[in-house]
Formats: sequence, structure tokens, C-alpha cells
Amino acid sequence: MKDISLDLSNLQDFYSNNEFSLLANKYDEINQFLHNKTGKGNEFLGWLNLPSTIPGKEIDNIKLISEEIKSKVDFVVVIGIGGSYLGSRAVIEALSNNFHQYKTNGKFPQILYAGQNISEDYMYELLSFLKDKSFAIVVISKSGTTTEPAIAFRLLKKELEKSLSTDEVNKRIIAITDKSKGALKQLANQENYRTFNIPDDVGGRFSVLTAVGLLPIAIAGFDIEKLLEGAKDMSKATSTDVSFENNIAAQYAVARNVLYNKGKTNEILVNYNPKLHYIAEWWKQLYGESEGKDNKGIFPASVNFTTDLHSMGQYIQDGLRNLFETIISVNETKYKLEIPTDNDNLDKLNYIAGKRLSAVNKMAELGTKIAHLDGNVPVIRIEIPEINEYFLGQLIYFFEKACAISGYYLGVNPFDQPGVEAYKKNMFALLGKPGFEEETEKIKKRI
Ligand code: PA5
Repeated sequence: MKDISLDLSNLQDFYSNNEFSLLANKYDEINQFLHNKTGKGNEFLGWLNLPSTIPGKEIDNIKLISEEIKSKVDFVVVIGIGGSYLGSRAVIEALSNNFHQYKTNGKFPQILYAGQNISEDYMYELLSFLKDKSFAIVVISKSGTTTEPAIAFRLLKKELEKSLSTDEVNKRIIAITDKSKGALKQLANQENYRTFNIPDDVGGRFSVLTAVGLLPIAIAGFDIEKLLEGAKDMSKATSTDVSFENNIAAQYAVARNVLYNKGKTNEILVNYNPKLHYIAEWWKQLYGESEGKDNKGIFPASVNFTTDLHSMGQYIQDGLRNLFETIISVNETKYKLEIPTDNDNLDKLNYIAGKRLSAVNKMAELGTKIAHLDGNVPVIRIEIPEINEYFLGQLIYFFEKACAISGYYLGVNPFDQPGVEAYKKNMFALLGKPGFEEETEKIKKRI
């Protein structure tokens, strides 16, 4: 079967061959940063070889624990934020039935999420919903000290404690965190939770192919080995010894940097399938946190088409011309459905009766692409044969690799996120966290 592929053929009118070659020729230098680990943030390159280095024992353990949890509870709450949450949700939503939450007799537990906001109503409603349900918790935090998941964990743990023995509560909590440091690790040791470690050299947003992503995905009933196999094949296809001409991750990174240099500062990830909504959320975090720094970076945005053609479509077609689009185009649907004939034909749809919805969706995609190109929006296309574990593994690795290369082209450290600290510092100062007294004094004068 065909692999994921990249189509840059629609960019010809937006830059010259020379402009593209200028950056492409620098690829060897960028490639060395990854190959020899000499670039910025080189202590966080563990994700590069993850698909082939993740120990078999770790996979067995993930499968074992997921089987136990699956047989025991109806719901699993995955607690985490940012890189500790988005990767697993992206894969689970992409692979799940669109209406899975309404199915009551599923073979696998429903996955719920918490710790990715501090909304009182969200947590109240979640706790109320879980009151009479059997549930387990997978709590994920690399640092083990992030406020949002810590609050959610405290509340959900108390909920478990209301109806279960301490021993059973501790069996229902799985912690994924640093191997030695952080409050979560300390608590896990104290309470004897089962734990998985997040490798030191893998940052949050690059951690979906560790237990961070794999355990929730396995609990949801999906094949993590296929996911890893796809990622492994993509790691080979984009490895440091593959030339630029054959390396789609390097080509995507260069194309987006050439466009950026020409004033196309906003990239919109487009899908035509609502199941990919969270892939876009994961992608936005990956690229936004990796590239948006030092007053530079492409702003990553996303839309779900055709839904958003009736809202954001106007801006994309006609608004400020600083946009380019990257379409994730899926070739095969899982199911087949034709548009029926109607004798009255009042809706005038009989001209497409007998056509599959996917054929209409494809024409919407093609028509929109041409319209946006005409509207001076460069369009990149990533083609996926179908949505399954294997191709999602390929896609994840492709985006991770391209992100690192692109960040190095931009001249930033793709693996840190110093900007995230600013809001935390202010929030702690406003809440009066011990150790933030000076900041509290300062911020009080500003409100
Ligand atoms: O990519 C990152 O490093 C961040 O988005 C983190 O994943 C996020 O802030 C959550 O951090 P932690 O896992 O330490 O709770």
C-alpha cells in the first residue's frame, strides 16, 4: 500500500525554484544538528529513535496493565495537559467511532479527559457523571508539578476514595511521570501506584510514542504496535541518511520556511474529516510550542472543513494574505454511503444521487484548493491512504521530524518552551503561592 505522501506542486506560483533551493541546500547542515546532536536543545532528541528503541518489556507492560484496566472499569479518566494529553486524545479520537461516547455496551472503557483546564463546571460535571460509575485514572505529568492536572487528580482521587478501599484506589491509579523527581513521583512511591517513566530526553509534546500516549491508546482498544510500526517506517523514510530529494519531512520543513520568509506567517492545518480535529490540536501544540519563540515563528491554526468553510472560509479566501494551508487529505473512508435518489427532488440533489459522500467531499476539497490558490493562499497537501494505527504512526513521526528540522531552519530551540512560564508565574503570584511573595507584591500594583 502507498505510504503517506507530500504534495508541494501547488506552491510553484508562490516562490521561485531558486528561493526553495537556497534553503534546501542548507539541509545537510541542519541534518547534522539532528544526526550529531549538535543543535539547540540536543538533550531532548530521545524521540528521534523512540519507535525502534522503546523496550519490548515496556510495550508488554503497557498491554498488560491496559488489559487489566479494560476488564475492570467502564471509564478511564486520562489526566494531563499539553504534551501529556493531546497526543493520546488525537489518536483515540481519530480511530474511534464518531459516536462512541453514546455506545453503552462497548468492549473497551470510554476515555474521559481532565486536567487540561481549570473550569469548575467541567470538573463538577465530570465528578457528578462519575459518581455511580466504575472508573480508573491515568495521571500524566512529566514534571509532576503542573497545576491543572494536579487539581484534577486531587478531586478525582477523592471521588475514588469515597467508594473503594485504599488498596483498590491505588490499583485504579496509574501514574506516568519522571523516573525520580516531582510531586507525582513522590506520591506514586508513597501510595504504591503502578508507574511508567517518561524518558528524560523526550519532551512533553514529543512524547506520544512513549507510555504517555501508548497507555491511554491501548486502553481505548487500539493497536499500539501498529502505531509504532508506522512511526518506525516513517523514521526510516526520513532518517538522517535519506537525501533531501527523498525526505518528505525535510521538504515540508523547507517549504513552510520559504513561505514564512515571504510573509506567509500563518499556517492552517485543514482536514475534511471531523475525526482529525484532535490531530490538528496536537499539531498546533507541537509546532506552536516548538517554533513560537524569540519573536519568530509560524502561527499554527486549524480548521475543520467543510464545516468551517461556512465561517473561516470567508477570511481564508479574502482576508489578510499572510496565510498558507496544509491539507491532510485522506484517500479511503472506512465505510461506504451513497446519496439516495428522491422522486420529488425538491432539494435538487438528484444530479449527485448514487455518488458516495466521499466523492462529494473530495470535490469540495479540490474545489476549495483551487479557490484558495486563486485567492493567493499557497496549499500544501499531505495524503494519507486511510485513517488507521499504522498511518497515524507515520503521520505523527512525520510531523515531529519536520517540526525539529523546521525549528532549526528558523534558528530557534525547538525543544524548550520558556514562554509557558510567564502565565504560571503570574497565576502563582495572584494565588499567593509560597515562594512567590515578591511577585505577588509586584502584580498587586498592576491590578
Ligand atoms: O510540551 C511540553 O513540554 C508541554 O506542553 C507539557 O507537556 C505540558 O506543559 C505539561 O507538562 P507536564 O507533563 O510536566 O505536566
